[in-house]
Amino acid sequence: MRVPQPHLPAIFFLAIQVPSFFLSYAALARLHPRCPRYHALISVIDEVLGRTYTAYVISEVALSEALRRYWGFDAFRPLQKSIVQGLVEGRDTCVVMPTGGGKSLCYQLPAALLAGQTTIVISPLIALMQDQVAQLTQMGIAAALLNSSVAANEQTRVMRNASAGAYRLLYLSPERLARADTAAWLQQIPISFFAIDEAHCISEWGHEFRPEYRQLSSLRKQFPDRPIAAFTASATQRVRHDIVEQLRLRDPHKCIASFHRPNLRYVVKQCEARTQEGLLVAAIRTYRDSNVIVYASTIAKVEETVDFLEEQKISAIGYHGKMDPSTRRRNQELWMADDVRVLVGTLAFGLGINKAAVRAVIHLSLPKSIEQYYQEAGRAGRDGLPADCVLLWQKRDASLLTYFIGQIDDAEEKKRAWQRYDEIRGFVESAECRHRRICAHFGEHPKWKSCGACDICGSEPDWLAAPDAAKAPKRNQASMRTCREADSAKRKPKERNVLLGADAELRECLREWRRTAAKQQGVPAFVVMHDTALDELCRVRPTSLSELLRVHGFGERKVELYGEQIVGVVSRFRRRVAVAGFGGS
Ligand SMILES: Nc1ncnc2c1ncn2[C@@H]1O[C@H](COP(=O)(O)OP(=O)(O)OP(=O)(O)O)[C@@H](O)[C@H]1O
Ligand SMILES: [Mg+2]
Ligand SMILES: [Zn+2]
Repeated sequence: MRVPQPHLPAIFFLAIQVPSFFLSYAALARLHPRCPRYHALISVIDEVLGRTYTAYVISEVALSEALRRYWGFDAFRPLQKSIVQGLVEGRDTCVVMPTGGGKSLCYQLPAALLAGQTTIVISPLIALMQDQVAQLTQMGIAAALLNSSVAANEQTRVMRNASAGAYRLLYLSPERLARADTAAWLQQIPISFFAIDEAHCISEWGHEFRPEYRQLSSLRKQFPDRPIAAFTASATQRVRHDIVEQLRLRDPHKCIASFHRPNLRYVVKQCEARTQEGLLVAAIRTYRDSNVIVYASTIAKVEETVDFLEEQKISAIGYHGKMDPSTRRRNQELWMADDVRVLVGTLAFGLGINKAAVRAVIHLSLPKSIEQYYQEAGRAGRDGLPADCVLLWQKRDASLLTYFIGQIDDAEEKKRAWQRYDEIRGFVESAECRHRRICAHFGEHPKWKSCGACDICGSEPDWLAAPDAAKAPKRNQASMRTCREADSAKRKPKERNVLLGADAELRECLREWRRTAAKQQGVPAFVVMHDTALDELCRVRPTSLSELLRVHGFGERKVELYGEQIVGVVSRFRRRVAVAGFGGS
């Protein structure tokens, strides 16, 4: 048998070449400090060596390990891993992923892993930044924000820490980034990459164009060697093209997920004002134990609808741009914490709202565009369970939209507004499968012809056909049952009754604990623990810290912070159930 011999010429070659490469590299840096060409060469070599090194050190195992350690998640969602890897390797990136797809993690995870460096996140809403920074802090990832809401002395503190590289993520508003002093100051920070969230705001063709986003075009010039990553949920091909162009992305890693959300049922119905009210009440009574979002087109309509629902003994809260910020935030938190189930909002409500178990999104008027509709309706069913998106529109909505388009002075903007109008009108009046039509709008062409989950394909909630408030439609009750209930349905009847009651009781105990913990820390309840994590706790009922660490949504830091208390709540509850189940009735 032949024993494999080391390839001597190759070893000899490497022994000579590798050290001489490093020596000449060092010599170049030393001998020609003033020559720009040498510096350019050195920075290229640095870049290549740096990328190879980072990619080597941050292996796939390290990514999965960080996902478990910080987030308490077991697996990446589709596309997440490849986006994270691309960013770790320093590639420009353009991500289009539906609402709730998990875009934040795609830039937060590489940021957490790139030690000693800071990812600059540009985000359009102050509330959104505050929530993300609070959530990251709870996970043990150093993060901060700078915008007009931050007090002057706090800004000085954040800037000092940031200059020392203390944060993995620093959130900035686009206005803040555009300030000349910010750009100069950022040059001192060890930036890993820029993440532009809600990147469609940069395009005039997008439905939420923000002029301040346009200033991001100068990022590439100011930071030529720093990677830029753009993230959005709703971008047509034209908007995507605009994003890449405006941000001057270089050979970007393009990650476009499917726009098809099979767990959503889209239903569109034209109606009159009076029937609309009856339908709304019937709908909300159907989803009575679940969270619902109602979208209205104006502030007056939001207030009117909240009053109307209250008259019907349905508790609801409003949300719109003209509310004072503290009331608006409180209303959002009440709804996020399940204290009030129905929220009626204008389009000011939505961007970045992350609540998993929303069973219905009901629109009371025609949205301005398909993108706007897709983004708002997409707040439903983020937990992957069935949810309804119902658009109840009236003829007069169309007249109102056309009136406002008539008021636009800018000829180009007027043209775009008409195009959006024609598209959404085409959507509501079309006889083509709604899912198909939405996918096609975003440039995707599904193979299937019929989805079985839209009004055109023959699926409608019962309450739409017979708006009788007292009647509980069959399909919704069945489809709205949670997995947990379905699972417990397999058990014996008596045991099931005890457990179903017990489940609700445990959920209530944990919610109460969450409310107190959130209050103590001055953060919203969902920052302490998301609904999905709460549901998992009810299912697993962990009795030790190591069991808790295996529960979805519990990373190391969360367990450290709250583990003892949560295990305490679950244990007390278990003891009570044991007494009720075996000693009672
Ligand atoms: N790999 C994963 N496993 C389980 N849950 C995940 C995973 N990635 C993300 N999530 C969860 O999915 C939810 C939605 O994530 P995120 O807020 O990042 O969505 P998004 O894509 O930014 O949506 P939007 O466009 O609405 O802002 C969050 O609760 C997040 O914790
Ligand atoms: Mg997001
Ligand atoms: Zn269909």
